[in-house]
Amino acid sequence: MAPALTVTETATENVTNALGSVSLKAEKGPSYPRYLPHFDASEKFPPTPVREFSDPGLRADPTKPNLLGPGVQVKQISPYIGSEVRGVQISQLSKEGLDELALFAAERKVLAFRDQDFKDLSPERQIEIASHFGPIQRHPTSGNVEGFPEFHVVYRDADHQRFREYRGADNRAIRTSWHSDVSYELQPPGTTFFWILDIPENKAGDTLFLSQVEAYKRLSPEFQKRLEGLRAVHSAVYQAEYSRKSGGPVRREPVESEHPVVRQHPVTGEKALYVNPGFTRRIVGFKEEESEYLLKFLYDHISKGADYQIRATYEPGTLVIWDNRVTVHSGTGDFPQEQRRHAVRLTPQAEVPIPALA
Ligand SMILES: [Fe+2]
Repeated sequence: MAPALTVTETATENVTNALGSVSLKAEKGPSYPRYLPHFDASEKFPPTPVREFSDPGLRADPTKPNLLGPGVQVKQISPYIGSEVRGVQISQLSKEGLDELALFAAERKVLAFRDQDFKDLSPERQIEIASHFGPIQRHPTSGNVEGFPEFHVVYRDADHQRFREYRGADNRAIRTSWHSDVSYELQPPGTTFFWILDIPENKAGDTLFLSQVEAYKRLSPEFQKRLEGLRAVHSAVYQAEYSRKSGGPVRREPVESEHPVVRQHPVTGEKALYVNPGFTRRIVGFKEEESEYLLKFLYDHISKGADYQIRATYEPGTLVIWDNRVTVHSGTGDFPQEQRRHAVRLTPQAEVPIPALA
């Protein structure tokens, strides 16, 4: 069983691809109505430009004096992935502290910061802090916040179940849906912010995370050599088609990007698998059956690796920061349909993935 922590997640892409306005008719309305998902089918974005990126972690003091000073408590969740942190406010960090945060997130893969005031900052300030880690991705189909297309809103309640429909949850035996956020982008996200606003009444809605570094390390040197140099196609097409079919926004025409199957982290130098069932569609240069065979093996390998996975749980004030380049994650559909879960993500984009070569 994956070690239990106390964090949460972004479920999956399009979790909140609810259409129309979100009503406040429930007995108890959402705690943060300002962040209810906003859908405007006429909203359009230009294609995402290629942008210069230098990871802030490269500038960080490896001893992290500005992030992990006196009084800060760090608890390991599992040896390979995940730390829980108390006693520091992300909102108060200096630029040096934010650089150290980038490094720490890369090293530990997932960080669960407790008792944060981040959720009560202004949207402008939230965006300013997250922008330290790269230009914020604007999601092409999911709910955002009116006036702030940088936010990706995760929202479910009794009346808004688009996520379940998107994933076909009602006709699936297993609800786990491993993915790396928007990996179809040419510059997929790195240091990613996700914070909870409303936790389901049954205290569920956790997030599973796993280390793609450890998943790669478990393979034999011969198999690793076969993977290195391969590239795979990551596609936004299905997500866009679903949104279009549902009358939702397609703010940018869907993109497909080829990424290395094994990528190297620019700060730690660690090699990580970089395929995920959510968005990776095929191996470049392989015939269809070969591609399906290899991807099926890798997805099985990832999903069965309970000793390099964690379960992140949420408390009021939890802010989870993960490195999306070296992890995959999945929401857990373990709360009743009528209960509300509300969270927000800011998704800074990082470098064009660096291929790991033997
Ligand atoms: Fe996600």
